[in-house]
Amino acid sequence: MQTIERDVVIIGAGPSGLNAARRLTKAGKSVAVLEARDRVGGRTWSDVRDGGWFEIGGQWISPDQTALLALVEELGKETYSRYRDGDSIYVGADGSTTRFAGDLPVSAETNAEIDRIAAILDGYAAEIGATEPWAHAKAEELDKISFIEWLHQQSDDDEAVENIAMWIAGGMLTKPSYAFSTLQAVLMSASAGSFSNLLDDHFILDKRVVGGMQSVSIAIAEQLGDGVVFLNSPVRTLEWTDNGPGAAGAVTAIADGMTVHAQHAIVAVPPNLYHRISYDPPLPRMQMVSHQHVSMGLVIKVHATYATPFWRDKGLAGTVYDHSGLVQEVYDNTNHGEERGTLVGFISDVKAEAVWGLGAEDRKRAVLEGIAKSLGDEALEPESFYLSDWGNEEWTRGAYATSYDLGGLHRWGALQNQPVGPIYFASSDIAGEGYQHVDGAVRIGTATAERILDAVSV
Ligand code: FDA
Repeated sequence: MQTIERDVVIIGAGPSGLNAARRLTKAGKSVAVLEARDRVGGRTWSDVRDGGWFEIGGQWISPDQTALLALVEELGKETYSRYRDGDSIYVGADGSTTRFAGDLPVSAETNAEIDRIAAILDGYAAEIGATEPWAHAKAEELDKISFIEWLHQQSDDDEAVENIAMWIAGGMLTKPSYAFSTLQAVLMSASAGSFSNLLDDHFILDKRVVGGMQSVSIAIAEQLGDGVVFLNSPVRTLEWTDNGPGAAGAVTAIADGMTVHAQHAIVAVPPNLYHRISYDPPLPRMQMVSHQHVSMGLVIKVHATYATPFWRDKGLAGTVYDHSGLVQEVYDNTNHGEERGTLVGFISDVKAEAVWGLGAEDRKRAVLEGIAKSLGDEALEPESFYLSDWGNEEWTRGAYATSYDLGGLHRWGALQNQPVGPIYFASSDIAGEGYQHVDGAVRIGTATAERILDAVSV
């Protein structure tokens, strides 16, 4: 067992923890980052599977994600745009496929309904904001009603309702639309600037990092140098003394093979994993209660690489919206500089659970048939195929991120960013701006480091 002393111990070497370490070390503080896995990057992970190089986790950057964009530039990395030329495909509830460009190929009335409901959500997002949605006068009302119930109250147009529900439910929170509140949907929208931004794949799925999103974390870890990041070090116990919220105290993080004594700790793990650490003394009552009311969504990220991007020859962008089908969204995800063509698809929540219940061959066939019905039979024969399985990752347990159960956000949201004695919490899942995204992780990691620097400067 190695024992070391640092100013701050950080638990988790994902983008949040590493950005906190980056800011603290720049200010001259000594830091240890203890990471459970044998790699850095957390939910960002770029690697070879079945002969294809894939972004197994987070990858896209939107234009408003300026903290991440600035970091990527500072690290000397380049970005590239997603291929999106050509028509998209819309699959109706009856399974019919329609090529389109511009507005969804639904009736003018349905498009008008989508615009009308989107405007209501944009209004709420602007009024309520992402920073403290729980503090707004309408918070309780909007947090007590599920998103789908609220949508049905707004409109009798089922196609409009299903489309709007899909963008937040399957598309973002990766939970069924009956399982989270309207306030949570408003937070999701506000964190991306507006609900309309989430609807716009040209905006939200804009750029990727050359070399992969995980390379951002790898570069930070390299800059931090030796003796800072310790892999294969799951933290089991955090001992602490209480000198008041945020004030320095004696903290001891006990990981497998490593003990770190420090004055502050940053728990930079997803909130659904907070309880995997034993706190001594235990965290305050309401923290322990609130942590039971956040959970990870579940989505399967489908990767399929073909000899060529065959859809482009048909004048297709590779974009498919199939809300009632198995693979709800498909996009061209061809890697920078690669001649082979890659598609990425998403299978969310209850459909993801059903797919994992199938045998491997049946699963692969069902998934590829789900894509082929829109893009053609060429989709049935990929050279490389892989399904990201984050639900099976002990140190994540789902994808993309966590959200509160119905009614939880207004009851406990205010606690999530409060330090407990010398222990701070930082995760993209409790970030306001950039919530559930790498940009949010960069923001909250850096901001949490600055809160600690402020606390020790007084
Ligand atoms: P993250 O989970 O990344 O890191 C936490 C770290 O803590 C992990 O390395 C974990 O191993 C470690 N840990 C946990 N418990 C520990 C313990 N007890 N001791 C030590 N270490 C412990 N975002 C985006 O911007 N664009 C996108 O396109 C996508 N797409 C996407 C797809 C998929 C499939 C996923 C899973 C996620 C995304 N995301 C995304 C989300 C994005 O990846 C996510 O928001 C960030 O990785 C969050 O960074 P954090 O550092 O907060 O947590």
